[in-house]
Parts: sequence; C-alpha cells; structure tokens
Amino acid sequence: MKIAILGSGGREHALALQLSKSKKLTKIYCIPGNAGTEQISNNIDINLENFHDLYDFLNKNKIELVVVGPEKPLVNGIADFLESKNIKVFGPKKIVSQLEGSKIFTKNICEKYNIPTAKFKICYSKDEAFKFLSDCEFPLVVKADVIASGKGVYVCNSIDDANIAITEIFDGKFGKTEQLLIEEFLEGDEMSFFIISDGNDYKLFNTAQDHKRVGEGDKGKNTGGMGAYSPSSLINKDLENKILKKIINPTLQAIREMGEKYVGFLYAGLMINNNEPYLIEYNVRMGDPECQTILPLIDNDLFEIISACCNSKLLEQEIRWKDKKSMCIVLCSKGYPEKYKKNVEIKNINKVNSSENNYIFHAGTKLSGNKIMAVGGRVLNFVNISNNFSLSRKEIIEQIQTLDWDQGFYRSDIGYKVINE
Ligand code: AMP
Ligand code: GLY
Repeated sequence: MKIAILGSGGREHALALQLSKSKKLTKIYCIPGNAGTEQISNNIDINLENFHDLYDFLNKNKIELVVVGPEKPLVNGIADFLESKNIKVFGPKKIVSQLEGSKIFTKNICEKYNIPTAKFKICYSKDEAFKFLSDCEFPLVVKADVIASGKGVYVCNSIDDANIAITEIFDGKFGKTEQLLIEEFLEGDEMSFFIISDGNDYKLFNTAQDHKRVGEGDKGKNTGGMGAYSPSSLINKDLENKILKKIINPTLQAIREMGEKYVGFLYAGLMINNNEPYLIEYNVRMGDPECQTILPLIDNDLFEIISACCNSKLLEQEIRWKDKKSMCIVLCSKGYPEKYKKNVEIKNINKVNSSENNYIFHAGTKLSGNKIMAVGGRVLNFVNISNNFSLSRKEIIEQIQTLDWDQGFYRSDIGYKVINE
C-alpha cells in the first residue's frame, strides 16, 4: 500500500521513519517534507492549501491513505475533502478540528460538559475587553481565537500588558478577528496528554513534557517547543483516570452528540495542580516535538495502528510501548523565535553517531545538491531513548557538539525538573 504524510516538520520526519519500518507499505510520500524525509521517502512539493492539486497527485499515484501532521489542513477541511474522494484520512474532520481551530468552540464544550478549565470571558470589541479588565485580578491570560502556534497567547502580569495584548489582537496581529478570550491564569505544571481514536473507541498514546519557552529555566518568549521528554513525571493512575473521566470522555461525548466522530490523534494540553487536571487547550494532531519524543518508544507497527483507526478497528489493535524513557532536544537557528538567517549550511550531520537509540529528525532543513541547509527556526531534533533522562541528555548534547553549525542554539536544560544534578 502507498501512503502520503502531509507536513514538513520534525513530527512528520518521525512519522515517516516509524511508518517506513512497516512491511505493509510499498511507498511513502511526504508532502512537502524536508531534507530528512527525503532520505527515507519521496518528497513532493505541493502547496497544502491547494486541495485539488493534492488530490490530483494522490489519485494519479494511487495513494490510499493520508496521514495529516499539522493542524492547518485539518482545520481547513482536508479530511472532509479527501474522504469525499474515497481516500482514507488519519486526522479529524473540519467541524471537530475546531477543538484546535477555535478556542471558543472548545470553551463552550467545557462549559456544557463541566470540563475543568480556566474561567473565561469572550469579548467582542476592544471597549468591552478594556471594561472587563477593570474588575480583573492579575496575572491573567489574553488569547486570540485563531491558530497561531501558541503565539496568540499573552500571559499578562499587569493591566498595561493586557491592554497591549487586546490592542494587538483586535488590530489584526494574528489576522482579522472579531473576538478574543480573557482567561483566569492557571497555576501548576503543564503536561501533554495524547490519545489515538478511531471514531468509536480510543487508546492512550503516552504523555510528554514540553519546554515551550526559548530560554533556559523556561524563561523568555514562547516557541513551538524547544525540547520534550516522555513519559511525563506527573502522570500516575489516579491522575490518568481523572483526565479520562473529567476531560477526554466528556469531550468525545460532546462530539458524538454533534453527530460526529473523532479519528486521529487528540492532544490535550493540561495544567496539573495537586494531581487535578485542567484543560488549557486541545490540538487535533500530535505535538511537535512530543511526536519525535514519543514515536521511538512504540514497539510495534505504527502503520497497523493508524490503519486500524481508519477502519474503526482500534479495539482489536495492540499498541506496545518500550519500557524506556525518551528525550528530545531541538536545535534552532540563532534568533528564533524572532528573525534568523536562512539557507545556512549545516556540516557534519553524517558524522553524528547513529544507533538504535539515537535519532535525528529534521524540521527546517532543505537539501541543496548534497548539502543540508537550515531554512527554518526549529531545524533539527535530537532524540535519545534510554533508562534514564540524565543519560539521554548527556548523549544528545555530545551528539549536537559533533555538528559544525555556529548559527545554531539549543537549551541544555531540557528535563531539568526530573534531572537532579
Ligand atoms: P495555548 O496555545 O492555549 O496552549 O497556550 C500556550 C501556552 O500559554 C500554554 O502552553 C501555557 O504555557 C500558557 N497558557 C495558556 N493558557 C493559560 C492559562 N489559562 N493559565 C496559565 N498558562 C496558560
Ligand atoms: N509542542 C506544542 C505543540 O505541538 O503545539
């Protein structure tokens, strides 16, 4: 069978590598892919906004199943479109992708089904928002109701911070908008919690801890993710039961009551306080870099798992996990998440030791002849699996130091909350 993976990040390289181990697949296409996916699959340069061009390619090449990496095509309705053309899609339809596409859609479900989350107010104009602020306590959080990879979220410590956030959002910094959210600030520790669902049933898909801030000690600007480790040290059976009972099950019930089904990965971004979970947000896909961190821990055929989901047979399908820990450190272009240089060569990648427990997943890279060029903000993901987070971090940092790329930087403190040194 031939499949296509949509997307071009580290998440998609990790998906491609894990899927390439399946004996049931004859060919994998990555659309558009990166320099890493090019080495293990076939990159095809199609604009993912253009569903018709995509369909033409899939149809001509007899591709039967599409795995969607990023949220944007899902929120834009790629699953609905391809299924109307009889192509199976691993990823949810447009209406349920609003779980990520519209924070207000999710908050309304939380309200109706009593799902624990931050208290919130929707404001439809600057004046309404400014007025509401006068009775608020700080810190609080102001959010644009758009998909902005975490960048539309402002944690505000003062009324001045909040005024700037409200002005920027209504002035269109994240695109035209008619509403924003003002939320209570949740205290606690964050956790990324994943399930995989076939529309009728679901299974757990591990946990991870992401480091979103650019600087050591979790300081500085929000990024897409500077590193992660799995499993999260916060998870325990009691907490897992609460997450399922209070958050995941009522959400899936809400979707069923809408007459819809959820097929794909569902990622709950949670705040954990005193072993109680609160929903911060949903994403309708795997996390990045959580995907790169979690997938190497799978001990059976990922294609069989995904295929079972697309055929409503997940209950019969086993998901086996290695009893190991995994860590990912993201190597970025200097300047990220602000301005950075593009088209800088990264030398020595081939000199980095590769072994069964070490992985390099590409993100913002491109092949130029036989040179690997950095073309994005987050460029390479180094992953190591072992029995111990401290060992994994040491191993990864040694590997990164083999590279010859003075325009790169990384956080050397990933996992600091679980490593005592
Ligand atoms: P989101 O895009 O909603 O996941 O928000 C991005 C990041 O902002 C989260 O990962 C949290 O670190 C932070 N955040 C968002 N909402 C809240 C909240 N209500 N309380 C505390 N931190 C938050
Ligand atoms: N690592 C955060 C995200 O994928 O949204």
